[in-house]
Amino acid sequence: MNTLFRIQSSIKHWLDKVDEHSIHSPFFYDFYLRIIRGETKSHFTDIEKLRTQLLQNNSIIKLKDLGDTSAYFKSEDRSISKIAHTSLTDAKYCELFYRIAENIEAENIVELGTSMGITSLYLAQLKKSRVTTFEGNPDLINIAKTNFELFGKKNIEIIEGNIDQTLSDYLQNPAKIDFALMDANHRYEPTVRYFNWIAKRMSDTGIIVIDDIYRSPEMAKAWNELRKHDLVYSSVDLFTCGILFFDLSLTKQHFIWSY
Ligand SMILES: C[S@@+](CC[C@H](N)C(=O)[O-])C[C@H]1O[C@@H](n2cnc3c(N)ncnc32)[C@H](O)[C@@H]1O
Repeated sequence: MNTLFRIQSSIKHWLDKVDEHSIHSPFFYDFYLRIIRGETKSHFTDIEKLRTQLLQNNSIIKLKDLGDTSAYFKSEDRSISKIAHTSLTDAKYCELFYRIAENIEAENIVELGTSMGITSLYLAQLKKSRVTTFEGNPDLINIAKTNFELFGKKNIEIIEGNIDQTLSDYLQNPAKIDFALMDANHRYEPTVRYFNWIAKRMSDTGIIVIDDIYRSPEMAKAWNELRKHDLVYSSVDLFTCGILFFDLSLTKQHFIWSY
C-alpha cells in the first residue's frame, strides 16, 4: 500500500512542483538558487569513504525496530551493509542539510535518529556547530561513537535511549535550537509529538527538516498538519523531505520544489 501511495504522491509532487520563475519572495528566490540548486563548497570525501566502508561491511548487528510503535520492539539481526543501504541519508541530502544549516549559521543542532552517524558528521563540519543526536539502538550507538572518534569530533553528543523518554529530558535545557532534523520514528503520532516539543524551542531563524514525508499516508498527514502549524512561517516540500521555517519575518507560504 505504501509503495502505491509513494508512486501516487510522487506523480502529484511532479505535477505541482514549480521552479524559480514562480517564486516572488526575494528570500525564497535566493534560498532556491543558492541552497536548493547550489553546491556545497566543503569537502566530505572522508565521510563518504566511511559510508563506502559501511556499505561493504557484512558484520551482523542486532537492530530493534524503534520506528514502530514504542510498545512493540522486533529484535532482528541485520548486516551493517544492509542498514547502510536502507537507513542512511544519501550524500546529496546530507549536503543539502549542511547548506541549510550553514545558511542560518546554525550552532545548536538536533538530529533525531543517528543510525551510524553519517549525517551527524556532515552537520558537525559546520563552524561553531554543536550536534546533539539521538539513537536508541545500542549496536548503532557503538558504531556511531566509533565513527565520531575516528573523525576526532568533540562537537557531537549522542543521547542514548528511546526518544520518547530522552527528548523531553534533553529539552529541559533551555538553549534554543537553530536546526533540527527529524529522521527517527516515521509514524504520525511520534512525529507530531516530537515536533510540538521541539517547535517551542526553535530560535528566531530556526529550521526543522522532516525526512521521508511521503513514506506512508500517516507521514503525509503529519507533514500536511505540521506545515500549517501556527509556529511555522513557511514550508518547502522536496518530496523526500520537508523544510519548515520558524522565521517570523516570513509571510506564510508553501512551495513545492524538486531537488
Ligand atoms: C533513518 S535512520 C537515521 C539516519 C541518520 N539520520 C542518517 O542520515 O545517517 C533512523 C534511526 O532512528 C532510530 N530510531 C527510530 N525510532 C527511535 C526512537 N523512538 N528512539 C531512538 N531511536 C530511534 C533508529 O534506530 C534508526 O537508527
